[in-house]
Amino acid sequence: MEYEVAEELLSAEIITSRVAEIGQEISRKYRGKPLTVIAILRGAVVFLSDLIRQIDPSVKLSLDFMRVSSYGNSTVNSGEIKILQDLDNTINGAHVLIVEDIIDTGLSLNRLKEYLLQKNPASLEICALLDKKERRIVQVDLDYVGFEIPDRFVVGYGLDYAERWRNLPAIHVMRPVES
Ligand code: IMP
Ligand code: MG
Repeated sequence: MEYEVAEELLSAEIITSRVAEIGQEISRKYRGKPLTVIAILRGAVVFLSDLIRQIDPSVKLSLDFMRVSSYGNSTVNSGEIKILQDLDNTINGAHVLIVEDIIDTGLSLNRLKEYLLQKNPASLEICALLDKKERRIVQVDLDYVGFEIPDRFVVGYGLDYAERWRNLPAIHVMRPVES
């Protein structure tokens, strides 16, 4: 099925103010402490870049990146999850915050969390911009959530459909093209 971009679900302004609130929460928690932020490529990069600039400079923040396989060019989760790009630095004894764009079935994040916990971080928290709760297959505890959204496929603000639409400033739903 073909999909096209439809109505705006979350405006750029609403996203900006929510990201600022999350930044303040994270700042309160980690003020004066070292924090390794692990962003999940590629969808989280727009959120990440806005979020870290809302985190207090007293937080000794460092960045690392991972990439895990997702849906390919489909909107359905294949269940197949692989680590495509691993961390550059060790997280042994570190306070870690995972930054993700969206939690859908929870399968990717669950797998990732297990993987990172094996590396013995001092703590591990999860921050997701979007939470599609209705779709959850495995339970994951989220520490910071931007917005709960309905079961719709969304794009923009870093999220893609077949690599497109990441550069939209707002978050939009996709709808099937009528033929
Ligand atoms: P999960 O393992 O099903 O939770 O998959 C989460 C991943 O699927 C996210 O990191 C996204 O890459 C992708 N994903 C899930 N829902 C959407 C969506 O609505 N738009 C864009 N990507 C999505
Ligand atoms: Mg992703």
